[in-house]
Amino acid sequence: MAYPILFLIFLSLPFSSAKLSLKYYNATCPDFEKIVRENVFNKQSAVPATAPGLLRMFFHDCITDGCDASILIASSAYNHHTERDAELNAALSGDAFDIISRIKNAMELACPGIVSCSDIVAQATRDLVKMVGGPFYNVRLGRKDSKVSDAKRVDASLPTTKMTMDQIIEKFTAKKFSIRDMVALTGAHTIGFTHCKEFSDRIYPTVDPTLHPKLAAGLRQICQNYTIDTSMAAFNDVRSPSTFDNAFFKNILKGLGLLRTDYFLSVDPRTRPIVEEYAKDQQAFFKDFAKAMEKVSVLGVKTGHKGEVRNRCDQFNNNIHA
Ligand code: HEM
Ligand SMILES: *[C@@H]1O[C@H](CO)[C@@H](O)[C@H](O)[C@H]1NC(C)=O
Ligand SMILES: *[C@@H]1O[C@H](CO)[C@@H](O)[C@H](O)[C@H]1NC(C)=O
Repeated sequence: MAYPILFLIFLSLPFSSAKLSLKYYNATCPDFEKIVRENVFNKQSAVPATAPGLLRMFFHDCITDGCDASILIASSAYNHHTERDAELNAALSGDAFDIISRIKNAMELACPGIVSCSDIVAQATRDLVKMVGGPFYNVRLGRKDSKVSDAKRVDASLPTTKMTMDQIIEKFTAKKFSIRDMVALTGAHTIGFTHCKEFSDRIYPTVDPTLHPKLAAGLRQICQNYTIDTSMAAFNDVRSPSTFDNAFFKNILKGLGLLRTDYFLSVDPRTRPIVEEYAKDQQAFFKDFAKAMEKVSVLGVKTGHKGEVRNRCDQFNNNIHA
């Protein structure tokens, strides 16, 4: 008798997203998809930095204890030092927070109290990736928002540019991502910006010989005042900065990547063959990126009483409990 029950438990374990569905809001908020799509279109048309900004925020939210919108909570008298206060989240784009609050406002008018902030983040990220040229993938819905947000959780979860390839691989495999998933996901660096301080030690005082000399000269020029003007930043992808394509992989094979860790991808024997494949075959990259993003989007999802549908994305409903 015990066998079938055990079997069922094991069978259902890997699918923490079992309660999510594509049609979650079909009856309760039928305009969900349309509201996200229209707001994303308007915002991205006006502010092209939105897509990379939200894509990065989505990754940081999900990799830190799940896709639960914990990254959106603002510090207050009751909640100090939330995820977004962590040093690694300091440069997250204000436009990423803005698009989510716009969509949430529209949802609260159309179907009050129904749609979670974490579902909005997941769906809006997908729509933005598609809008700037990237692949489509399914986003299952029904996430609840976290009741906790703690900056201390961020360092333990995120990869950083100071890490070795071994350490970065460990961060991804700890979350059940393969090396292939990791390489595909890092292809996200085909859009967006990096602030000078993230690569300044590759250009000052001397140039890192693994950087393409022309890129290095350009970066030394752009970043010359970066200690005074900390907003100075460079495009991640020098070829096609605003288009989601496979140029990132072509770039890093030529020393045209900004981050040292992106350079590692192009030389490490575990990752270089995958980089070469994606550089030659955009469809292979898109297929793997889509699959890996679907996997990211169900990381540590909270359903039922493990979370709540926040009234405002930047505050817990009961502000006192944390
Ligand atoms: C492999 C480990 C990774 C490291 C060490 C890393 C590090 C960084 C750093 C330092 C920046 C520059 C931030 C700034 O100066 O504002 C950045 C930007 C970015 N990252 Fe990553 N990243 C990694 C993987 C990923 C993944 C997996 C994704 C998404 C799936 C991603 C998406 C982005 C995006 C879209 C930007 C541009 C953000 C913007 O323009 O606002 N990164 N990353
Ligand atoms: C969606 O909801 C409508 C009613 O609003 C219903 O007729 C339809 O069958 C539902 N579709 C799915 C796929 O659940
Ligand atoms: C750096 O500062 C100097 C002096 O203020 C200015 O002339 C120069 O244009 C600045 N460079 C950049 C790239 O902003």
